[in-house]
Amino acid sequence: MSRFDEVIERRGTHAVKWDGLKTVFGREDVLPMWVADMDFKAPDEVSEAIQKAAAHGIFGYTIVPDSTKEVIVNWMQSRHHWSVQKEWLLFNHGVVPSIGAAVEALTKPGDAVIVQPPVYNPFFEMIERNERKLVHNELLLKDGRYEMDFADLEEKIQTEKAKMVVLCSPHNPGGRVWTKEELTTLCEICEKHNVYLVSDEIHADLTREPNKHLPAASLSERYAAFTVTLVAPSKTFNLAGLQASALIIPNKDIRTRLQKVFARQGQFTLNQLGIAGMEAAYRHGSEWLEEALDYIQENARLVKEYAEKNIPSISVMEPEGSYLVWVDCRSLGLPDKELLDLFLVHGVALGNGAKYGPGGEGFMRINVACPRATVEETMNRMKKAVESL
Ligand SMILES: Cc1ncc(COP(=O)(O)O)c(C=O)c1O
Repeated sequence: MSRFDEVIERRGTHAVKWDGLKTVFGREDVLPMWVADMDFKAPDEVSEAIQKAAAHGIFGYTIVPDSTKEVIVNWMQSRHHWSVQKEWLLFNHGVVPSIGAAVEALTKPGDAVIVQPPVYNPFFEMIERNERKLVHNELLLKDGRYEMDFADLEEKIQTEKAKMVVLCSPHNPGGRVWTKEELTTLCEICEKHNVYLVSDEIHADLTREPNKHLPAASLSERYAAFTVTLVAPSKTFNLAGLQASALIIPNKDIRTRLQKVFARQGQFTLNQLGIAGMEAAYRHGSEWLEEALDYIQENARLVKEYAEKNIPSISVMEPEGSYLVWVDCRSLGLPDKELLDLFLVHGVALGNGAKYGPGGEGFMRINVACPRATVEETMNRMKKAVESL
C-alpha cells in the first residue's frame, strides 16, 4: 500500500476541485477529475514548516529570505542542471499572474502574442485581458503525439509582427516534454525575429527518464537573454493554495521591466506560509516526489490500458510528463458540451478539451494525481458512459 492510496476528504476545505463542482458542473455527486491539483498530502516537511510558522503566531509583513532563493537555485541545478543566479529571481503569487505581468511589461496593447493550442486556457485570458492580440500557432497531432508547427510559427511571427511567444513546457494538456531539438528550433526562431519567450515550466519537475525536461533558457545564454522562465512548487508538491511562485530572468533589463509592473500593482513579496512551504518543499521534497511520480505513472498507464481493453472507441495519450491525461473522444462524434455532459451524468467531471483552444475539440482531460481507486472508478464510469451511447 502506498501513502498515495489514502482517500482524503477534501470537501469543505475550499478546494475548488471539490467545493467548486456545484458552481461549475451543477452537481456535487461526481468524481472531480478536472482541476490540476493532487488529492495527495504534501510532503510532511512542508506541513511541519507551516505548522512551525503558524505556531509563532505573528503574521506580519515578510521578505523572501536568501535561504528560499538558495533552495530554488539548488533545485534548478540538481534537478534541471541549470545554473541560476539568485539575482535572477523574482517572486509572485502565481504563474498565471506572472504571464500577465510579462505580457504587460514586454509588449504593448494591440501587439500579437503567440500561443500553441490546445493549451492551458488562462494563457488566452492573460493575453486578451491585457488587450494584446491572441495568435494561435496550433500544435500538429502526428501519430497520437503533439509536435510544434515551426513553419506556421515563423510565418505568424512575421505576418502578425508578434512580440512574444508563451510556451507551455512541459505541455498541458498534451503531455509533451519538449526535446532539445524542438526547444532549440523554437528559440532560434524567437531570436531571429526578436521575440520574447515566456516559458511556463510549472510542470517541469513532474517528468522522468527517458523524458527529460530542459529549461529553454538553460540551452544557451543567447536564449536566456530573451526568456522569462516561470517555475513553482505548486504542481510538483501540491502547494497551489499557498500561492508561491518564482520568475527566473537572467536579462537585467527584462527583470527591471517586470519589477516595474509588480511595483505598479503594489506586489512585493510572498505570504509567510507560502515562503515556509516553498522552501521546505524544495529542500526536503525529492524523495516524496520520486514516490509520487511512480504512483502517477502507474495511474496514467492504468487509464491507457483500461481504455485500450474496455473503451476502444476512445484513445488515450499517455503523458510524457505531469499528471494530465489527454483523451481523444472524437470518434464518439458528440459536440463538446454533450461529450462533457455524457461523462458528467455517469458521475465524472472532466476537463473539457474545447476550452484549451483550437485542436482541443472532442478531447477530454483527466487528472490522475489521485488515489488509484478513484482512477479505477473513473474509468468504470467512463466505460458505462460510452456504452450508453
Ligand atoms: C501550464 C500551467 N501554468 C500555470 C498554472 C497555474 O499556475 P498558478 O496557479 O501558479 O497561477 C497551471 C495550472 O494548472 C498550468 O497547468
